[in-house]
Amino acid sequence: MTQSSDPVPDPAAKLTAAPEERTIPPAPEGRPHVVEFHNVTKTYAAGTSREYTAIKNVTFHVADIEAIGELICILGPSGCGKSTVLKLIAGLEPQHPPTIGDVKVLGQKVEGPGSDRGMVFQEYTAFDNRTVLDNVAFGLECRGVPRAERHEQARAWIEKVGLNPKKDALKFPHELSGGMRQRVAIARSLILNPRILLMDEPFGALDPMTRLRMQDLLIKLWAEAEATVFFVTHSIEEAVFLGDRIYLFSNAPGTIIEEVHAPRPNKSAVESQALPEFSERVKYIRQKIAAMEEQAGII
Ligand SMILES: Nc1ncnc2c1ncn2[C@@H]1O[C@H](COP(=O)(O)OP(=O)(O)OP(=O)(O)O)[C@@H](O)[C@H]1O
Ligand SMILES: [Mg+2]
Repeated sequence: MTQSSDPVPDPAAKLTAAPEERTIPPAPEGRPHVVEFHNVTKTYAAGTSREYTAIKNVTFHVADIEAIGELICILGPSGCGKSTVLKLIAGLEPQHPPTIGDVKVLGQKVEGPGSDRGMVFQEYTAFDNRTVLDNVAFGLECRGVPRAERHEQARAWIEKVGLNPKKDALKFPHELSGGMRQRVAIARSLILNPRILLMDEPFGALDPMTRLRMQDLLIKLWAEAEATVFFVTHSIEEAVFLGDRIYLFSNAPGTIIEEVHAPRPNKSAVESQALPEFSERVKYIRQKIAAMEEQAGII
């Protein structure tokens, strides 16, 4: 197919950041990467009749740039290994360890979970028998922070995530909406000041408007936290709005088929997503996915 008849837009033309948009400077030399995957393959139940390769030859790195935590979106079809990638970074079994290859965090091979990595899941994961306050304070309690101090910090975080420290702090999880529970989950992770925040479809169960509000909240908190965020999603719009970088995964066994760069949002989710350039980026990625599915014989 010639260039002129190709319906796929030229990525360089469509995805270049405008001058006022923030570009990511190169990392200083010699500094270990925040996260590094080198030829990572994960085969579940290896050596049995149920053997299944979820991801294959995944290689990428996220450089450690001072005062800039990137937001990396992992976008791909169901079952392509997105959660597997996240849990390998988290060091959670049985995803950890990889079958082949290396997963490193800040230059060290991942050996298991650590407080430098916080995780927020799609399903609500609060402790039902603890109040919002004690859920948010949980990690500090594990670290032995005295009660008054951990409650003070927890109240501050409850407010930062848009909940009411007076009205909501003493509620139990079953008294909260889905959006409120995810706010609690985010507060519970960020209170520990993780270097890396791993989010697995955290807004997937929310209604569309709440989802946009939560995207705005994440952008706001992330700018303050300076953490590197890995954000898994099925939603192209969510990935284009949130991601500095989008790793587009193939069908299983998942591997990165393309890395797309997008500018940082400087408007709310509702406003940004109404812009023509936003629709162009979404269209570009949708066409990539359609081409990939066609190639795999899915459509
Ligand atoms: N513990 C496990 N044991 C065996 N197979 C697994 C295990 N966890 C995941 N898999 C398989 O690996 C593949 C990738 O799973 P994973 O959960 O990483 O996909 P995903 O991209 O997150 O999917 P979704 O978008 O549906 O959440 C799937 O086919 C899944 O069935
Ligand atoms: Mg998943």
